[in-house]
Amino acid sequence: MSSKITAPADYKTESILLANQRAAEHGIDLSKLPQLMDMNADTITDNVHAINANCTNDRMKFVFKSLIQHLHDFIRETSLTSEEWMTALEFLTKTGQISSDIRHEFILLSDVLGVSTLVDSLNHAKPPGATEACVLGPFFTEDAHHLQNGDSIATEGKGEYMYVHGKVLDTKGNPIPGATIDTWETDGQGLYDTQYAERTEPDCRGRLFSAEDGTYAFRAVVPVSYPIPSDGPVGKLVTNLGRHVFRPSHLHMQIEAQGFEKLTTAFYPRGDPYLYSDAVFGVHTSLIVDLKQVSDKELSLKRGFKEGKPHVELHRDIILATPEEGREARKKMMPAVEK
Ligand SMILES: [Fe+2]
Repeated sequence: MSSKITAPADYKTESILLANQRAAEHGIDLSKLPQLMDMNADTITDNVHAINANCTNDRMKFVFKSLIQHLHDFIRETSLTSEEWMTALEFLTKTGQISSDIRHEFILLSDVLGVSTLVDSLNHAKPPGATEACVLGPFFTEDAHHLQNGDSIATEGKGEYMYVHGKVLDTKGNPIPGATIDTWETDGQGLYDTQYAERTEPDCRGRLFSAEDGTYAFRAVVPVSYPIPSDGPVGKLVTNLGRHVFRPSHLHMQIEAQGFEKLTTAFYPRGDPYLYSDAVFGVHTSLIVDLKQVSDKELSLKRGFKEGKPHVELHRDIILATPEEGREARKKMMPAVEK
């Protein structure tokens, strides 16, 4: 490909000078660009690569070269029609239009296509013994209330009582004090607080810290399985693909502590009928938990449940990896990351 621009005969010198000046204002030297003419299905891909070759961010250049190559190959491979491409663009437009600060339709799209799980698996591979990561999902919000250990994340009447407790530990079994624990879940109706139009403040979600000995505890409600939102483009896509839209019941947790990798995970009660066909591919065997029935009235009262009513108990320690341990675990997973 020529690196010298050859002005067509009808170009005026002043026009070239002005064009050069304007391009230079954006850091571009027109004389060094490839000549982009007569594009067709055989030449377009190489020419997009060529025009992007001036990108000074090597990682961005590498990622976009791969993205464009795969996207163009996908279009050739499927003989994609103009109508189908317009349908895709309209779908993406609707996905953006329905999104808001508390509705994350693009995260949901990433989840149902398996992209979130793929990105997580590569980026958040954990050393043996550390708690596995899983998808963040579209329902995390930043506005959770700060709670004390033992407080409830759910207001009264949101579902069946559940007590969640355990320790935050490192991979050697040492307690991690002061870890920030964000947790969120559905209520007993299978809905997150953000799905209620009349939401005024967070519910069934909270933020607390592990104690000096690494322990954490909070009251919650038993989460139930739920359909991903079906009133938007992503829910419709899943249905059109011949899949069901349900997620097994789960309790989300995100844990951050100084000197350790941030962990986004969730715990899945055993026995849920959707454990093996999760609409967003989030379940790992190691994250399945057994819920224990507690009918000891005194213990229920001590834990703060109204009138000492029975509850279920979810006991689970959370093991965090250090950045060094995480890096070691990911070494073989991401060979291209330095490119
Ligand atoms: Fe969820």
